Amino acid sequence: MKNAREVIASRLSCRAFDGQPLSAEDEAQVRDLLEKVNDPPFGSPVGLALVPADDAMIADISERAPYGVVHNPAQFIVGYVQKGRHSMEDFGFVLEQAVLHVEASFVSTCWLGGTFNRGGFAKALGLDRDVLIPAVVPIGYPARRRTVSDGSIRFAVGARKRKRWSELFFEVEFWDDDDKPQSSPFPLTPASAADFEAMLEAVRLAPSTSNQQPWRVYRYSADSGPDLLHLFVARTTGFDKAIKDVDMQRIDAGVAMAHFSAVADELGFGGAWTERKPSWMPRGVEYVSTWVEN
Ligand SMILES: Cc1cc2nc3c(=O)[nH]c(=O)nc-3n(C[C@H](O)[C@H](O)[C@H](O)COP(=O)(O)O)c2cc1C
Repeated sequence: MKNAREVIASRLSCRAFDGQPLSAEDEAQVRDLLEKVNDPPFGSPVGLALVPADDAMIADISERAPYGVVHNPAQFIVGYVQKGRHSMEDFGFVLEQAVLHVEASFVSTCWLGGTFNRGGFAKALGLDRDVLIPAVVPIGYPARRRTVSDGSIRFAVGARKRKRWSELFFEVEFWDDDDKPQSSPFPLTPASAADFEAMLEAVRLAPSTSNQQPWRVYRYSADSGPDLLHLFVARTTGFDKAIKDVDMQRIDAGVAMAHFSAVADELGFGGAWTERKPSWMPRGVEYVSTWVEN
C-alpha cells in the first residue's frame, strides 16, 4: 500500500478500465476502506455505497456526460449527502478520502460530477428524494491502453497541469490585534510555508472539476499567536449552477481539505478544519474554512 503523499503525487483520473470485476480480496478491501473514512469537518451526514457497474448505467453516463466518458469500470462508489449549509465541502472531503484509500490499494478511480443518471443511482440505493448524489466515482483496474476519449478529455482540461504555488498560496501580515493587514498579500513559497509545505503541495496536486483548481489558501500571520490558514474558493465564472443544488467548486474545496488533512495526519500535525471567517477578506474569493493547529 502507498502512503497518502505517494498516492497524491502519482494519482491520475482513469476513464478507461479493463472491464474485469474486482477480485474478491480487492472488493473486500475497498468495502473495508470505505468504512475507514474520517467524519467531515462540518458534520454533514455523508454516505458511501458500492454499486456494481451495469451496462445500462455506463451507457447512460456515456450518453449524458458533457465531458468524461467512462469505459468498463467494475463498480461505482456512490456518495450521497443531505442538503445543508456545508454539505458540498463535507461531501468532497469524505469522497476524496475514499478515493485516496482506494488508490493506495492499486484500484483506479475517476470523479464524475457532470450529468449522469442521479435518479438511477438513488433508486438502486433506495435514497429519499431530498438526498443528493453530487458525484460518483467509477473504480476498477485500468485498461492497458487509454481510450481516445480519455486522452482527449485529459488534453481538453489540461489534466496534468497544475497552477504554480504563486497562483494558489499567499501570505498576509497583520499587526497584533488589528483586523487590517499590514501588507498586501504576497506569494507563500514552499520555503516560507515551512511546516505546511507538504500539506499545501498536496492541495496543489488535488483533482478538481475540469481541473479549474479553484482553491486559494492565505496564511494570516501576526507577531504573536498562531498563524491561521484560511481556505477560499476563487470561482470560475459561469461554472457553478449546471446541476441543481450541487456546487462543484465547493466540492473541489472539500477535496483539497481532504488532501491537506491526509498529509497532516501522516506527518503527525494536529489540527482541524473549522469555521473562523476572517473579518478582512482578500478580493474575489469566497470563504470556505480555516485550518487551526492544536
Ligand atoms: C468534484 C470533481 C468532479 C469531476 N467531474 C468529472 C466529470 O464529470 N467527468 C470527468 O471526466 N472528470 C471529472 N473530474 C476529474 C477532473 O477532470 C480531473 O481530476 C482533473 O482534470 C485533473 O486530472 P487528474 O485527476 O488526472 O489529476 C472531476 C473531478 C472532481 C474533483
